[in-house]
Amino acid sequence: VPEVSVDVGTHQYTIYIAPGSLTHIGQRLSALGEITGALVVTNPIIRQNYGELLTDCLVAAGYTVECIELPPGEATKSMEWAMRLYDHAIAMGLDRKSCIIALGGGVIGDLAGFVAATYMRGVPFVQVPTTLLAQVDSSVGGKVAINHPQGKNLIGAFYQPNMVLIDPLTLNTLPQREWLSGMAEVIKYGIIADTDFFDVLSQENVASLSRNSAKIGEIIKRSCEIKAAVVNADEKETGLRMILNFGHTIGHALESATGYTRYTHGEAVAIGMVGAAMLARDSGWLDTAKVECIRSLIQQYQLPVHFNGIDINTIVSHLYHDKKKEGGAIRWVLPRSIGQVAITKEVSEEQIRAVLADLST
Ligand SMILES: NC(=O)c1ccc[n+]([C@@H]2O[C@H](COP(=O)([O-])OP(=O)(O)OC[C@H]3O[C@@H](n4cnc5c(N)ncnc54)[C@H](O)[C@@H]3O)[C@@H](O)[C@H]2O)c1
Ligand SMILES: [Zn+2]
Repeated sequence: VPEVSVDVGTHQYTIYIAPGSLTHIGQRLSALGEITGALVVTNPIIRQNYGELLTDCLVAAGYTVECIELPPGEATKSMEWAMRLYDHAIAMGLDRKSCIIALGGGVIGDLAGFVAATYMRGVPFVQVPTTLLAQVDSSVGGKVAINHPQGKNLIGAFYQPNMVLIDPLTLNTLPQREWLSGMAEVIKYGIIADTDFFDVLSQENVASLSRNSAKIGEIIKRSCEIKAAVVNADEKETGLRMILNFGHTIGHALESATGYTRYTHGEAVAIGMVGAAMLARDSGWLDTAKVECIRSLIQQYQLPVHFNGIDINTIVSHLYHDKKKEGGAIRWVLPRSIGQVAITKEVSEEQIRAVLADLST
């Protein structure tokens, strides 16, 4: 079983990745010791596909298990739903000898993790991510959060899980668009940290990966390793961790300029990565051929490399709105080559506008 071990400060935990690993939950949980019960947090679709299997395995291993279903969608990452989880935890008598298990995508993981971090000042937390994005990104790194009407992820904490269990077989039921969206983050890891990984991805395609759970398992493992390495070096996001934002500056501006309805997060990041590569080229960091390699890999995974019908002034104002909140110039994460990025503030508004015009069709 491929295992990725993550060390953050005093806290060590393991990310287990294997097709079929959902059924190892009981055995893995026993290895953590001291835990006797579990509250599984999921949604109806995921419960139908995997919830029974997971709870059956837990019950067979001797755990007391309760399961709570929340509605799918970003709106569930709210204080209201967190409160319902607290209510449920109190009603079932959940204590520090029990764990909260997040079975789902990033929405479930972030919300259940936030509740685990705060209920009784913290109870054991296990992530069983079921979207590609959650498997390679949100379940690694220990950021948990809920949304506030004034902004996404405004209320949150750094709270590391006790373990992460990834079963690539769960991806078989994931809608194609969600699958591709997760691939954008996978491609990001190649560009920011690993040339060889970028080449591996170039040799595969959507069909070869999505139909081969062992291969996708390897890809997930490498992605987790890269994210874990970055997070280990910078748990509380003071410096290095910023490189994970590659492609996200323009990506976030596109998402907010379109009211978070037009693009999935990964699609917006895909366009943002092409934009960042072009800015790197214009700064003399990257040659045109490498920009093309990046663009063509993104297209190979059926992700967008252009946008249309969005006013460039609107995008620019969203870019600078974020900048104002941070109280300084935009810090761009730009590739110096494929496999290495650096941070710079030396990008003019004129350069940005030129790149946005190129990205717009
Ligand atoms: N904590 C972090 O570091 C971090 C990082 C990135 C993103 N996030 C957060 O993650 C969230 C997005 O996560 P997401 O992309 O996983 O979206 P999501 O959790 O909304 O899941 C996407 C959709 O897929 C469905 N689904 C999940 N697994 C399935 C499966 N195996 N089969 C069929 N359907 C399935 C869900 O019901 C949902 O409708 C956002 O709230 C974002 O802020 C957090
Ligand atoms: Zn992202």
